[in-house]
Amino acid sequence: MAKFSPKKFIKESVNELRKKIKDKRALVATSGGVDSTVCAILSKMAIGDKLVVFFIDDGLMREKEPEQVRDFLATKGINLEIWNVEDTFFEALKGKTDPEEKRKAFRDTFYKILSQAVRSYSVDFLIQGTIAADIVETQKGIKTQHNVLSQIGVNPAFYGLTIIEPLRELYKNQVRQVAKVLGLPKKIYDRKPFPGPGLATRVIGEVTRDRVEKIRIATKIVEEELIEKNIFQAFPVLFSDKATGIVDGKRLLGDIIAIRAVKSEDALTAQPVKILWKRLYKIRDRILKEVPGVVKVLYDITPKPPSTIEYI
Ligand code: XMP
Repeated sequence: MAKFSPKKFIKESVNELRKKIKDKRALVATSGGVDSTVCAILSKMAIGDKLVVFFIDDGLMREKEPEQVRDFLATKGINLEIWNVEDTFFEALKGKTDPEEKRKAFRDTFYKILSQAVRSYSVDFLIQGTIAADIVETQKGIKTQHNVLSQIGVNPAFYGLTIIEPLRELYKNQVRQVAKVLGLPKKIYDRKPFPGPGLATRVIGEVTRDRVEKIRIATKIVEEELIEKNIFQAFPVLFSDKATGIVDGKRLLGDIIAIRAVKSEDALTAQPVKILWKRLYKIRDRILKEVPGVVKVLYDITPKPPSTIEYI
């Protein structure tokens, strides 16, 4: 197989986008991750002002994420259209505890909002950052990734959309190479993957505002403490079960948080990272101090397979 050339890919995909979209308008929904940011930049290069870059503020993002995405894209001359629809997402997720039901509720809400945006901005095309691993895993039935519409039996036409997926043949490391050649900063091209349904995937059981807020604080801690390049992903997960603890001399039923940190090439397989006790203790101490109601902190040592990287 010929060696992947990011330069050639950029040239060809910009041409391809121009050819497909012609003088019509397109929308790209970005999350600030490397895939959708690369999509936004390539699309901007291809069609300029005929592109709408859209951000769904679903209330499931990490701390200050919407503002950071907006500020970064502004440096690239892109004005981010942000819709704050967190009430709609929490309403859709209310009472749902089954992982696939949660994913479905997220997906349905996501596409409902997106189709409203498509109508409201009068665009004909939706550009998505689906990459090859998303397609492989969805085809294998490992995961119902929310961004592979046709694979999950959703007809894009139902939402009035023509979908373009410029990155569908690339693997993550190739997308990172493209991002680098596009001149994006390290914090984008080296950005660790973060799932589309956001912190909803980091909360086992019901996704409530209160539980998401707990995991948001814990996520900040884990990301601050485990930032190195050889860690593919590092994150905490809030369990739905409770455990007995002792707080202020009294027995108290409190929360359990697991920390997961994995090494991986392409997310198809993964190995737990060996972390020194000293570092784990520091993370444990911060979680116990900064996240209210936590009485147990665990470290997950399972590889993928048989585990997945995420918990839902
Ligand atoms: P799993 O948990 O299936 O995750 O081993 C593999 C990789 O995919 C990410 N992931 C998602 N990404 N939407 C996404 O965009 C999703 O619904 C989703 N679920 C999992 C996960 O973080 C890991 O990098």
